[in-house]
Amino acid sequence: MKRPYLICHMHMSLDGKIVGPHLETEAAQSSMRTYYELGYGNNRIFNGHKGWLSGRISSEDNFTHYQEPELNLDAEMIVEGDYIAVENAEMHYFSIDPSGKLGWNTNQITYYETTAHVVQIITGKVNNAYKDFLRRKKISYIIAGEDFLDLEEAMLKIQKYFHVDQVILGGGGGLNWSFLQQGLIDEISIVMTPAADGSTDTQSLFDANEIYNQPAPVTFTIKETQILNDGSVWLRYLVNNK
Ligand SMILES: NC(=O)c1ccc[n+]([C@@H]2O[C@H](COP(=O)([O-])OP(=O)(O)OC[C@H]3O[C@@H](n4cnc5c(N)ncnc54)[C@H](OP(=O)(O)O)[C@@H]3O)[C@@H](O)[C@H]2O)c1
Repeated sequence: MKRPYLICHMHMSLDGKIVGPHLETEAAQSSMRTYYELGYGNNRIFNGHKGWLSGRISSEDNFTHYQEPELNLDAEMIVEGDYIAVENAEMHYFSIDPSGKLGWNTNQITYYETTAHVVQIITGKVNNAYKDFLRRKKISYIIAGEDFLDLEEAMLKIQKYFHVDQVILGGGGGLNWSFLQQGLIDEISIVMTPAADGSTDTQSLFDANEIYNQPAPVTFTIKETQILNDGSVWLRYLVNNK
């Protein structure tokens, strides 16, 4: 089976950063909205998808705020396999959380005007109590890989359950680099805001993490560039996958 077409869609500063003080500027506030419209808004350009993938730290920073999950260690044994809690949701938030750490309060997130059902992407090593927690919250989960997350299997399962041939990868830099290193990204879409902050301790568009991978050179082929009304630049590249 051919995996879905994966577009890494990101908002970035002139110095290649995806978070940091530059986000407080008017320029960045405006281009963040443009970034949202292109990828996730009602009239989005990328309209073949039903949701976006996000890394565990992005979910903690933006939605769960490092809250611990409420586990019942005496929960009854959960049946094996994946669990789809909500059928036919229009949009999904595919949350990469290999060990089952995220303490969700609800089974949906809101991003500007978009509401998305949370689908946790976990591994087989996640324990019964965490799966019980997800079921009690009516949060879907997909198991991809046993001890280590299998990113390709995750994409194939997303395609199978949600009937899509396109998926958005929405960061952060660690997750982006993992997908890129495994040759799973087809296209990069960057809204580059005319702001910078010079920070050296904030995440970049791609960040290698020695737990998962190493730094290595990668090249891209330009597909399109556009100057947008808010003064940001939209850059689209194809990945020169081997
Ligand atoms: N500007 C933008 O467009 C944009 C978009 C999204 C996010 N962000 C920002 O980016 C920041 C977070 O970025 P980040 O790079 O620190 O974190 P991240 O990519 O959100 O999450 C990294 C985590 O994902 C899991 N992961 C990554 N690669 C994996 C692999 N190959 N196998 C299994 N699990 C894997 C690991 O979770 P475990 O540690 O649990 O193993 C890892 O710690 C946030 O502050 C967020 O606001 C910006």
